[in-house]
Amino acid sequence: MDVIDLNSEHERLYFQCLEDWSEEIKEAGDHKGRWYARMKDRGLRVKLARDENGEIGGMIQYLPIEEYYLQGKDLHFILCIWVHGYKQGRGNFQKRGMGKALLRAAEEDSRALGRKGIAAWGVVLPFFMRASWFKKQGYKPLDRDGIMMLLWKPFSQDAVAPKWVRRKKKPGKTAGKVTVSAFINGWCPAQNLSFERAHRAAEQFGDKVLFQKYDTLDRDVFEEWGISDGLFIDGKEVRTGPPPSFEKIKGLIEQRVRKLK
Ligand SMILES: CC(C)(COP(=O)(O)OP(=O)(O)OC[C@H]1O[C@@H](n2cnc3c(N)ncnc32)[C@H](O)[C@@H]1OP(=O)(O)O)[C@@H](O)C(=O)NCCC(=O)NCCS
Repeated sequence: MDVIDLNSEHERLYFQCLEDWSEEIKEAGDHKGRWYARMKDRGLRVKLARDENGEIGGMIQYLPIEEYYLQGKDLHFILCIWVHGYKQGRGNFQKRGMGKALLRAAEEDSRALGRKGIAAWGVVLPFFMRASWFKKQGYKPLDRDGIMMLLWKPFSQDAVAPKWVRRKKKPGKTAGKVTVSAFINGWCPAQNLSFERAHRAAEQFGDKVLFQKYDTLDRDVFEEWGISDGLFIDGKEVRTGPPPSFEKIKGLIEQRVRKLK
């Protein structure tokens, strides 16, 4: 097994989180590709793990922390690490050392690029990208926001610990209409999928629904709200990790539409 840099041959696979077999991921639109086109010249790094047969089984993506939505400097931030764990498609590559190899390669790269440390986020519950996995790999927990833990591994004494940017405000309602507010950054296909589903669902109700898109790749938009990705129906947050089904989002909008006078 080895770790390689992303190349043009595997770009599409990376945009699909290695889930090229999944019909669902195709619903996520082209947001990831557009995000990548912008971020690749702003220090984004992507590495892939390749097995003995040349099959890609894992990925890690990280960027200068200044390019993400945290308070921090001179560090890298890991957006996500993912070793394909489904039976479908390329199959399960987990627990064969790919995760550790990817993380080690990212850390070495980050040091070589002169960063003072590397930060990551993980979920404090036993699912998805777990904070406990990073802890096991030597990361120290720093700052918790809901179920999300920010962790880091400083490389030098003078590294400054990063912090989450907290949510600043919540979108509201509009008189006479149902308001669907969707925040999208583009980096995460699961979030992009929720955005696309919400957009499609909102369109089904014509002018009874106001769909508001917030493009948080625009730093000013993020700074105003303190939200990177998120979905709100009449100001009430809909959880988007994992992405809700199209039917669920449509049903939630419908409940509000029925209450319109
Ligand atoms: C966390 C993850 C990256 C680990 O990769 P991996 O290739 O399976 O892990 P490795 O084989 O390198 O194992 C590294 C260590 O983690 C442990 N480990 C792996 N999977 C684990 C799990 N599900 N629970 C607890 N420990 C686990 C291994 O036992 C090993 O421990 P060791 O250091 O004592 O030997 C992988 O399981 C994964 O992708 N999980 C889902 C994360 C996710 O949802 N990412 C998308 C977020 S946007």
